[in-house]
Amino acid sequence: MPLTVLASAHLLAQLTVGGLRVEYLTNPIGIDVLQPRLSWRIASTRRNTMQSAYQMQVDTSETSLTRGAKALWDSGEILSDASVFVDYAGPPAVSRTRYYWRVRIWGGDTSGRGSPWSPVAFWETGLLQAADWTAGWIGPPPTASDSLPSPSPLLRRAFRVSDRVRAARLYVTSLGLYELYLNGQRVGDQLFTPGWTSYRRRLQYQTYDVTPLLRSGANVVGAMLGDGWYRGNLGFFGQRNLYGRRLALRAQLEIRYASGRTERVISDAEWKATVGPVLTSDIYGGETYDARRELSGWADAPYDDREWGAVALLDPPPPALVASMSPPVRRVRELRPVDIRRAPSGETIFDLGQNFTGWARLSVRGPAGTTVTLRFGEVLDRDGNLYTANLRGAGQTDRYTLRGKAREVYEPHFTFHGFRYVAARGLPAPADSTTITGIAVSSDLAQTGSLVTSDSLLNHLQRNIVWGQRSNFLDVPTDCPQRDERLGWTGDAQVFARTAAFNMDVAGFFAKWLSDVAADQDPSGSVPWVIPNPLGGDSVRFAGTAGWSDVAVIIPWTMYLTYGDRRLLERQYPSMRAWVDYARRRAGSDLIWRPGWQFGDWLALHSDDPSYPGATTGTDLIATAFLAHSTDLVSRTATVLGRDDEAAAYRARFQAIREAFNREFVSSTGRVGENTQTAYALAIAFDLLPDSLVSSAARRLALDVEAREHHLTTGFLGTPYLLHVLDATGHIGDAFALLTQRTYPSWLYPITRGATTMWERWDGIRPDSSFEDPGMNSFNHYAFGAVGDWMYRNIGGIDVDSAGPGYRRSRIAPRQGAGLTSASASLETVYGTLTSAWRLNQQRFELDVTVPANTSAEVTLWDARLDHVREGGVPLNAREGVRSARQRGKDVVVDVGSGRYSFAVTP
Ligand code: BGC
Repeated sequence: MPLTVLASAHLLAQLTVGGLRVEYLTNPIGIDVLQPRLSWRIASTRRNTMQSAYQMQVDTSETSLTRGAKALWDSGEILSDASVFVDYAGPPAVSRTRYYWRVRIWGGDTSGRGSPWSPVAFWETGLLQAADWTAGWIGPPPTASDSLPSPSPLLRRAFRVSDRVRAARLYVTSLGLYELYLNGQRVGDQLFTPGWTSYRRRLQYQTYDVTPLLRSGANVVGAMLGDGWYRGNLGFFGQRNLYGRRLALRAQLEIRYASGRTERVISDAEWKATVGPVLTSDIYGGETYDARRELSGWADAPYDDREWGAVALLDPPPPALVASMSPPVRRVRELRPVDIRRAPSGETIFDLGQNFTGWARLSVRGPAGTTVTLRFGEVLDRDGNLYTANLRGAGQTDRYTLRGKAREVYEPHFTFHGFRYVAARGLPAPADSTTITGIAVSSDLAQTGSLVTSDSLLNHLQRNIVWGQRSNFLDVPTDCPQRDERLGWTGDAQVFARTAAFNMDVAGFFAKWLSDVAADQDPSGSVPWVIPNPLGGDSVRFAGTAGWSDVAVIIPWTMYLTYGDRRLLERQYPSMRAWVDYARRRAGSDLIWRPGWQFGDWLALHSDDPSYPGATTGTDLIATAFLAHSTDLVSRTATVLGRDDEAAAYRARFQAIREAFNREFVSSTGRVGENTQTAYALAIAFDLLPDSLVSSAARRLALDVEAREHHLTTGFLGTPYLLHVLDATGHIGDAFALLTQRTYPSWLYPITRGATTMWERWDGIRPDSSFEDPGMNSFNHYAFGAVGDWMYRNIGGIDVDSAGPGYRRSRIAPRQGAGLTSASASLETVYGTLTSAWRLNQQRFELDVTVPANTSAEVTLWDARLDHVREGGVPLNAREGVRSARQRGKDVVVDVGSGRYSFAVTP
């Protein structure tokens, strides 16, 4: 075998293709995208691997695909380096069809032969046409108490399977929440289905592969319904039925027999209804469950349902049914009590050691009729009793009545609680560590990021940020999980989105939620405070607020930067434009928006202490700053989408607002607005100041920080930008000092008071140990966790280069400070794993970097001399994968291709 072939065979072996995804999902079933986008990851042991071409094949038969038979669609060899979100360009997808696909690539070697084919993956379509649905809407017969808390209805339908089943799919949705059973088995492990969307306009359905659950002969499908967001208590005005009064199910079971025959079992008048053990279940209030009313075997056969009544057929106003494509809500963690004690109230307090969202699994044995009451809370009061004043109107109480046989294990169905402590009353036996188990529930988002430093308090902060995200990403990004709110607050989501996208894969999660942003957006372009918006209102009432409504622009842009998702930008562009055009109209002819009362820099430091004044930034400054910023982002979006005229128009508008901002709020010596930290943070972060004034403005900011002995004053809107602005203007020392400050107000102060999640307020528990105003004092709000983004990008040192969205091009530039001696960060990008790990080894700064194949990175080594830098122990210019290296002032900048690198910098 000639040497060249051997060489290329060796080269080829190092390139593999895998991690095939459709949209954001792996082997999804029930999607409704006609032309899905396909992505893959390249693994190569060689550095500097770039794809030069790809070939994709799609077919409805896996065998013929792997046998190389003629495929339904074959792209042929396409000269392109795209490996993420590549459009499927074959025949339009049809309903209920599984499409198998595979890909191979060229690149990274000179041989011209492609890589081996990837493993075969698939996607399966759901019901793409409204006409595909023949199932009706069914529900329990109407009662006088439909608008009141009432028992959860059970619906069931017996049917026969008469032949060998090849495949079976169950397509389901509901008004209210549903749990589905087939032959006594729970279908799937998803919770709170069909999820919360803007119900009047969009309602999700789920698709389940139920083939393994069917059996020949008698079968039963059953469903239990719950009030949920549809008709339960919702919002802070104590209202119910905000979307409707009657619960309903729409279910369509499609059985494909081996014979080729198909059969459907649909929701219709054949079904029967009754009520079961769930007496009431409310998201805020909790659940009351009487196990003596359980109907054992109700969702199985044989079962005598002659006592059951007929279902009612409903004809609700039809929202568009859309396939759910965001990660479902699931049980994600179990927590054991770290302490069990008796409270002065007489209750038994179980401390689960972590504030989170979910419920308690109760495990008890006792006489029938015994009722155990479980109350949930985030903190204990000074006496050691459960503190619940901050829950406001949310009862957060589960009541379980024993049926009195053997050991009983209970978990609620249609409620969730925000808590660390469980206070139990009525336990039939002394408590032990098995009596209560914490069940954490959340949207089941893949963890994509990790950040660990040599500072245990900063690691604790990172953990609190992640738990805050896990607690509040429950199908929608909520502000908090415990009180009578738990709403999709837009401002909180926009300030936290970038941090969220480091910690977890939020692509599908936000893609779903942004559809609701657009769906609930007012025709005027105004965006409601909360999404989905059950509060009603109009373009101004509960809507149209700077910093909150800008979510319509900021999150699509953040998702584009993080995932390179151009189609999401395209989809949201009309909504993005509508918002900035609306906000422009709200501003005066001088382009200054004077909105009067708005949230502004919500929960910025307020202080009655004259020696330590609070910091209130004018809502006109904030509104005008966000108007400028969002206009700028819309201009950049138009550029990405190739809408050059619109890009130029919005660019011009941005410039004009910028000038107006300077006229109105900036002095000739760089003083901005009310001289608050937020005023400077927004003005500099949004590029609103002339270059000549940036450093004097930044100096004024740093002076304020130092005058306050390195304490911050920022609220929801200023906080995300504060440290970025300080480090970008040469005040990195002040940034680190603020970050590692332990006294109030600071990010670490709550941790010194025992916090395990992010607090809504800087002083949820005041330095004198009293609690802040219970009317608004959540101990699980992620908004101030927006600092996580700065920690990843500056301490970990990984960031995206906006010229290479999706981390096609990354920046690796870790900063040292605050006595840190090491830190490591990693991020699962759409291209693969990006890592940066540094340590100080005596005087040497050592940095290990991993850059995914088909991407590149710019590595910055601060305060370094080019000739004092080594990679793999040798000078840079001799290294494979090092595309260039240069001295940039006091720093060294190295441009690298994909691969693993070990840099060392000696003084
Ligand atoms: C919510 C916040 C929200 C704020 C706006 C609060 O009640 O909890 O998340 O951003 O209101 O005012």
